[in-house]
Amino acid sequence: PFILSIAGGGSTYTPGIVKSLMVRLEDFPLAEIRLYDIDVARQSTIAPVVEKVIRDHSQSIKFTVTSDPEAAFSGAHFVFAQMRVGQYKMREQDEKIPLRHGVVGQETCGPGGLAYGLRTILPMVELIDLVERYADKRAWIVNYSNPAAIVAEGVRRLRPDARVLNICDMPVAAMRNMGAILGVDRHKLEVDYFGLNHFGWFTRVLVDGEDRLPQLREHIARFGLLTEDAAQTDPQHSDPSWVKTWRNIKPLMDHFPEYLPNPYLQYYLMPNEIVEHQDPNYTRANEVMNGREKKLFAAALEYQRTGVLPDAFHVGVHGAFIVDVACSLAFDLRQRHLVIVENKGAIANLPYDAMVEVPAYITANGPEPVRMGAVPLFHQTLLMQQLASEQLLVEATIEGSYEKALQAFTLNRTVPTMQHAKAILDEMIAANREYWPAL
Ligand code: G6P
Ligand code: MN
Repeated sequence: PFILSIAGGGSTYTPGIVKSLMVRLEDFPLAEIRLYDIDVARQSTIAPVVEKVIRDHSQSIKFTVTSDPEAAFSGAHFVFAQMRVGQYKMREQDEKIPLRHGVVGQETCGPGGLAYGLRTILPMVELIDLVERYADKRAWIVNYSNPAAIVAEGVRRLRPDARVLNICDMPVAAMRNMGAILGVDRHKLEVDYFGLNHFGWFTRVLVDGEDRLPQLREHIARFGLLTEDAAQTDPQHSDPSWVKTWRNIKPLMDHFPEYLPNPYLQYYLMPNEIVEHQDPNYTRANEVMNGREKKLFAAALEYQRTGVLPDAFHVGVHGAFIVDVACSLAFDLRQRHLVIVENKGAIANLPYDAMVEVPAYITANGPEPVRMGAVPLFHQTLLMQQLASEQLLVEATIEGSYEKALQAFTLNRTVPTMQHAKAILDEMIAANREYWPAL
């Protein structure tokens, strides 16, 4: 049985992930679950809920809650990482500062994502170093920490040999919905997909060898990438703002007659419409703080008071996916999953060392990317520009370079001019003084 540590234990996602672990104990046996967080207060609020989820399924699994890295990682076999540097109050800034300049305000896309990247790369590397110091030498870090594309590139640059697998639940959430539309379990789909994280395209959706993407496109063109049952298996991506996101894929799709775009492309390709419908004073961060966060913390307090746990946390594809990936790593299952990996020729006309999102076979030694071939010039160009923006941001972080940060902001498709880039960057420097390396 494994020792598993969750870094970012105080996250509201933790109970859902642990619930997913509990229903898979036969596939992924656990001796111990450890929660690790630098925010002691937050983690100690969430921990009793997590303990209850564990005890409902198992009396034998040891449960540890700590802010000491040695206690957290000693001998660990797996680490699930989900850090949010600066928490939601900084997400709010990431979203609101660009919006004040008429630019998309989003946690991973546009200036918000770049700002979040500048906060996260170095703490992520610190976490990797701690895990390497204390954990089992063959331990894997499965990393959900955002902004995933930039974090993956930062890790590749700074710790190229680390056993880190970067993942995102967006492709699998889309696949869940595709499965529901087609009436098959998502595990039965074999998809081809190319791009960067939050920036890519599905090109085939095979069910028993038959490509069902054309049929899916017809459905999606009418109803969006959405199903009525999503609330059960993907509650997070079912609240009203997410429903809008899945619907916005329709106008995007008109411009891609063959492929199915990742919904996040709406921020890059139709930013005006997005900005028009965003409230600069009440963004997604506010919704999450007043919704998901409040609900879970209230449930945690109620549980402490009454011993009854209200069913207020997320169980769904997000937790199920990280457990799928961990099983495949642990037992060399070679399952095919969409993950973020070094390209190594998978997308023939992108750089060999780019961190791309493609299908990969997940082996005990890590992901083996599947060849997606060369992509059309239009897509390649979009990808290269986004990649350049993200790579410059990583270099800005490593070198403390204002120039490179400005270039990264300017190259981002959501930013119309260099003046916008500079104005936003300068405001963000002030807002991130506690978190960013000096530029
Ligand atoms: C999706 C993305 C994540 C992102 C999340 C935000 O799951 O894959 O990268 O963090 O959405 O969702 P939220 O509900 O917090 O806006
Ligand atoms: Mn994601």
